Amino acid sequence: MGFEASLCLQSMSATFCLLFFSFTVFFSLFSLLIFILRLKPWCNCEVCRSYLSSSWAKEFGNLADWYTHLLQKSPTGTIHVHVLRNTITANPENVEHILKTRFDNYPKGKPFSVILGDLLGHGIFNVDGDSWRFQRKMASLELGSVSVRSYALEIVSSEIQSRLIPLFLSVAGKRDGVLDLQDVFRRFSFDNICRFSFGLDPGSLQLSLPISSFAVAFDVASKLSAERAMAISPIVWKIKRLLNVGSERKLKEAIKTVNILATEMKNQRRKMGFSDRKDLLSRFMASIDDDKYLRDIVISFVLAGRDTVASALTSFFYLLSQHQRVEAAIRDEMERVIGPRTQEAAAASFEKMRQMHYLNAAIYESMRLYPPVQFDSKFCQEDDILPDGTFVTKGTRVTYHPYAMGRTERIWGPDCLEFKPERWLRDGVFMPENLFKYPVFQGGLRVCLGKEMALMEMRSVVLALVQRFDIRVADPNWAPWFVPGFTATVRGGLPVFVQERAVTYPSTLAN
Ligand code: HEM
Repeated sequence: MGFEASLCLQSMSATFCLLFFSFTVFFSLFSLLIFILRLKPWCNCEVCRSYLSSSWAKEFGNLADWYTHLLQKSPTGTIHVHVLRNTITANPENVEHILKTRFDNYPKGKPFSVILGDLLGHGIFNVDGDSWRFQRKMASLELGSVSVRSYALEIVSSEIQSRLIPLFLSVAGKRDGVLDLQDVFRRFSFDNICRFSFGLDPGSLQLSLPISSFAVAFDVASKLSAERAMAISPIVWKIKRLLNVGSERKLKEAIKTVNILATEMKNQRRKMGFSDRKDLLSRFMASIDDDKYLRDIVISFVLAGRDTVASALTSFFYLLSQHQRVEAAIRDEMERVIGPRTQEAAAASFEKMRQMHYLNAAIYESMRLYPPVQFDSKFCQEDDILPDGTFVTKGTRVTYHPYAMGRTERIWGPDCLEFKPERWLRDGVFMPENLFKYPVFQGGLRVCLGKEMALMEMRSVVLALVQRFDIRVADPNWAPWFVPGFTATVRGGLPVFVQERAVTYPSTLAN
């Protein structure tokens, strides 16, 4: 090719780049304009003004507390934040309508799946329609099986015995022995969910080891994906992604690391054989060939099962530290059902755990006040009317708010702010509540698939720790300030003092 022809080609490609860039900028600005017009940024109602100026923060520490206040004041239990095009409800009838009666009209929707799409791909957590139905059916069969449940209990018990208890013993009674409980439970649940999902042990609770690159990358990826949802407009992060700058660049790198490690794990499984393995990845490999799809399915489980359990355990021990009457009642029940101070407590069977009605009630009660998923949104497909008469237009984001619901007098009575496990008991027997009144694990067709596993994990940890340690929040004035994100996480963690209780233990536990 001659020099002039090459020059001509270069100038053509430069012109093309310029045209492409101008088009992208124009398109982005146009989309931003449409987005802004839809949101009604001019709305001057009290709620929108307070939201936009953040003046709510003068009176309320957490956004969730402000929404709770508004939802309680509303005669229908429903409010609108017009600037976000968001209808928020704490009305159980509306929740049932959204999650069950008109399930098809309230999918997760495209806005949500785009935000999490880079990390979760087409995993169950991030899809609607047939793909969701297929994964749901397959995963329900696996998670419902006795062998998977026993496998999960095996993993949790070994993590408690070999890591959690030794870690608590290493700080117990030391004057400077402050432990960040939130951090410990995040590491604990990460190890468990990775072992359960991939058959891989990241060993992140072994504080002597550097935290695994998988844990770090996964943390960064989920945090930055959640931040996308907080952006004023999706256009902002989409432009950053297009230009590969700032947080989007970090997100891309973190996802790349997650992908490399997920591929390595799959390759290992293929080499070593997976037919006799019990982890989810091996089980799904038996029926799915597509590597990308396998990766997506399993990553959804890691995201769903990690921070939720850690958050639930953190708030449980916060409440227990303040309500030693409840702690004493749990200990009494343990002695009655399991017997005194044996290693069995940490590995109590499903059957024994089921007999502990008070423990179960305390766990449900703590998640009523501190649900790990404080709110959850769907997108309305076609215009609709909610049971309380609220009109919802197509495209509106509709949010149900378990945090506000748990603190609502209309639902739980005048003592709704008190931590009272007894409200779940009738003649000493645990009585579950209507799921739409208590949508902590969601409800309806997409109810949490890991609910039983999460409860088993929580019961096992509570039994093992309460039996052996007194755990007290280090600062008596500590109050939870939540960091914005998909799961309730507290700023600065939860520092606690640990004291071993004055009892003797079998030698296997005491070393
Ligand atoms: C206390 C702990 C947990 C809580 C409070 C919780 C809560 C929830 C909630 C609210 C949803 C609905 C989210 C949405 O649709 O946007 C959900 C879905 C889900 N959860 Fe959990 N979860 C917990 C633990 C777990 C664990 C340990 C696992 C895995 C073993 C798990 C697996 C899932 C899956 C796969 C879904 C998606 C279900 C579907 O879309 O059909 N969860 N969970």
